[in-house]
Amino acid sequence: MELLQTLEQLTNWDGRPLVKYDGVWYPLVIRPLLSIQKYFKAKDSDIILTSFPKSGTTWLKALTFSIVNRNDLNISLLTSNNPHELVPFLEFDLYLHQENPDLQHISCPRIFSTHIPFKSLPESIRESECKVIYICRNPLDQFISHLHFFLENTKTNYSRPLFELDEYFGMYCQGIHPFGPICDHMLGYWDGHLENLNKVLFLKYEDLKQDTAFHIKKIAGFLGYPFSVEEEKQGVIEEISRLCSFENLKNLEVNKTGHIGVVKKSSFFRKGEVGDWTNYLTPAMAERFENMMESKFEGSGLMFNI
Ligand code: A3P
Repeated sequence: MELLQTLEQLTNWDGRPLVKYDGVWYPLVIRPLLSIQKYFKAKDSDIILTSFPKSGTTWLKALTFSIVNRNDLNISLLTSNNPHELVPFLEFDLYLHQENPDLQHISCPRIFSTHIPFKSLPESIRESECKVIYICRNPLDQFISHLHFFLENTKTNYSRPLFELDEYFGMYCQGIHPFGPICDHMLGYWDGHLENLNKVLFLKYEDLKQDTAFHIKKIAGFLGYPFSVEEEKQGVIEEISRLCSFENLKNLEVNKTGHIGVVKKSSFFRKGEVGDWTNYLTPAMAERFENMMESKFEGSGLMFNI
């Protein structure tokens, strides 16, 4: 509480508070963040799925869960549970109400997820042999996805964001967004990836869409769960791709109704397309963001084709 009072705070366009801590605009998860940094002890066999919100987290959870559990009856859990129920968030689930939850009973390999930036991950994640997978996405699509996610989950008929896009986009460009600025978030994981290629796998949503099978193979190899020749012949990769596809997950009964906390499960599956931003943002807005992003990424080797 004392710390919170010293931090810069503002109200985001969605009416929710954001708190600036260590250069990052956090939603109200500062207490869980500090608990995670203090108490979370990664095991070497852990898998940590990381992302900027609305960048393909749900898809990555489904894919990773299926890859790891493909020879296990557990894989069928994906048809009766939302991916977020199978792979919990550290900050929104496990540490939200408990300072130091007991995670020892979870069977290995444990799969967790988080939106915490790379530089703020607990030391044990960086120092253990655990694997980190990051997924990011064209920031303009991310912005539009977030906007719809908010509208879908708001209790009132609050349609302001679509009418005041300019203002909200301006805030987004200034980095005012949960876990923003987005470019810093991406760069942090990018640098972590370059520092240790075997530790951090860096994925882009668009690449996954373009060749899902290739990336399923890549993820499996990275995690140490490679597909055998026999599995490849049997079409196991294609089966995982189909199981985790947008169309399949969206149409599962378990994802059509019900909530996770206050969030509608169905709101995790909207369009699942690349380039939807063109239906909402002007070319001038895109250019503004692109210029900003290019100067931010200059010299890093990271590129994003908007
Ligand atoms: P759109 O709002 O553009 O449709 P997150 O999982 O990080 O919250 O990201 C949500 C975005 O990923 C949404 O994008 C959602 O539709 C899309 N998505 C969810 N599941 C998907 C899947 N299996 N394949 C592709 N995209 C998926």
